[in-house]
Amino acid sequence: CGIVAYIGDRDAYPILIKGLKRLEYRGYDSAGVALLDGNDLRVYRKKGKVSDLEAHTEGKSKEGKIGIGHTRWATHGAPTDANAHPHTSGDGRLAIIHNGIIENYASLKKELISKGHSFESETDTEVLGHFIEEIRKSNQCSLEEAVRIALKRVVGAYVIVIASKDDPGTLIAARKGSPLVIGVGRDEHFLASDATPIVEYTKKVIYVNDHEIAIIRKDELVLKNLTNEEQTPYIHTLDVELEAIEKGGYDHFMIKEIHEQPNTIRDCLRGRLDVEAGRITLGGIREYAANLNNTDRIVFVACGTSWHAGLVAEYVFEELCRVPVEVEYASEFRYRNPVIREGDVIFAVSQSGETADTLVAIEGAKEKGAIIFGICNVVGSSIPRASHEGVYTHAGPEIGVASTKAFTAQLTVLTLIALKSAHERGTIDDKRFRELLAELYRIPEKVKQALDMDEHIRKIAGKYKDAHSFLFLGRRYGFPVALEGALKLKEISYIHAEGYPAAEMKHGHIALVDENLPSVFIATRDSSYEKIVSNIQEIKARGGKVIAVVSEGDDVIPQMADDVIEVPETDELLMPMVSVIPLQLLSYHIGTMKGYNVDQPRNLAKSVTVE
Ligand code: G6P
Repeated sequence: CGIVAYIGDRDAYPILIKGLKRLEYRGYDSAGVALLDGNDLRVYRKKGKVSDLEAHTEGKSKEGKIGIGHTRWATHGAPTDANAHPHTSGDGRLAIIHNGIIENYASLKKELISKGHSFESETDTEVLGHFIEEIRKSNQCSLEEAVRIALKRVVGAYVIVIASKDDPGTLIAARKGSPLVIGVGRDEHFLASDATPIVEYTKKVIYVNDHEIAIIRKDELVLKNLTNEEQTPYIHTLDVELEAIEKGGYDHFMIKEIHEQPNTIRDCLRGRLDVEAGRITLGGIREYAANLNNTDRIVFVACGTSWHAGLVAEYVFEELCRVPVEVEYASEFRYRNPVIREGDVIFAVSQSGETADTLVAIEGAKEKGAIIFGICNVVGSSIPRASHEGVYTHAGPEIGVASTKAFTAQLTVLTLIALKSAHERGTIDDKRFRELLAELYRIPEKVKQALDMDEHIRKIAGKYKDAHSFLFLGRRYGFPVALEGALKLKEISYIHAEGYPAAEMKHGHIALVDENLPSVFIATRDSSYEKIVSNIQEIKARGGKVIAVVSEGDDVIPQMADDVIEVPETDELLMPMVSVIPLQLLSYHIGTMKGYNVDQPRNLAKSVTVE
């Protein structure tokens, strides 16, 4: 979910709507705003996108210099008007927006019903609104005090923002586990789930910490902890420019972000890779570098595309550092009582830095003595702050829900870390080290060449767009790329797809193969090239269609495959950064040809801040 709020001298409504549109990638099942104008509290809520909400408010009063807004990714209750935020308390005096999950909402709801409350929605948020109101009335205390008492009883993760008629010059916000950024302007404050709705107004921001309550007036901001002690807010300066969060002439954010990759990879290498000196500098890993270099086990914890980056890293770290690596889905890792020893090294990979499962997984591991390195894109987000050290991927804001440039930036950073650690461990010789540095430096150019195949890939997309299912197959470094290719296609085009190790395909998946099932092979020239050629033949022998991503100048596979996409050659260890590009483009084109909103695919959210 995305939240946004404003307090100051401007009209709140346009700021909220614009902010919600910028946050829509976080969820788009329903949207709503509450506007406080003196003693009037107006609430507008609508199922669907922010544009549906705008249509719904047309011709209605939108006065108010204070407001809160929400765009929802449904958890409790279906995406309906009634379940959309903001919710109001029973007496209609306060409006609340919430991102997260209140786990003990059912027992709180029961308690409130016994006290005469009735509810309009199925949401945990409405329960919280009523609960705060009940406390305020029965304790005869201020809203701030009521929020503090309520939150002590609440189990779960949340960011809440409340506007109330009882204190019409104040917003109250609080966080635990879900992100909240406050933009500090001159006599005005902006609140949001991330900085994107804020950058056009101010670059000065405060990241609210867990268990903090913010009492925000237009010209004053007070941060307190749950025991009512004032905290000193630390003001950060954002270095994001407005252009970075706009489409800049492209039809979609996704295609813009795909094409940005030569630059984002270059940005990611900048200041870190010195080919001439044969040196890698990583400011983010210093104090705990020895832990990384001496550990006998590395665990990667992540979700979605970031988990695929972890899988590539498994191959890279094992190859270069000769250390055993495990790659874990955060949601499984955190709940299965994993073996974690003091000093184990865990990498948390996350574009948003807010994925709840990943965050909680590392918090648990940290308590058991693990050393956590965060590999994140969003500066100042929760995972980097919960980590011991880490390296930012610096790909710039990624707005398209399906991750593209963040993935290649994650691969870049993880490769840099593996190379540096291998060099320090002495598990790579100097010649190979320098060779790989030089080749890494050339990757942005090679990615650019891969992007030049865009039009060719669009034609291939047109040929296969009506298939009901796809297989993506690869070996070694091509295997995680196959998984990522399948995930992209599922996310964007709603076509069923599976990624598989090309050899393992014989043990089941091959039963699916016929002329209607296209198989996409990642078959670039590497140490398993001959083997994958055999796998292609196995598919062809059963009448399957084959689309192959091959190395430039390959004259073997084009004779057997139905369609080929050439990419420039590089070291196999770095190949995923190049070979994933055609797969991103393929899913983009299939998705757009089918008329889907590729930036906001159904049911998905960019940042999953619930477990
Ligand atoms: C969601 C997004 C994916 C992303 C995953 C992990 O499912 O839609 O694109 O890969 O979360 O997110 P993270 O921010 O932790 O990388």
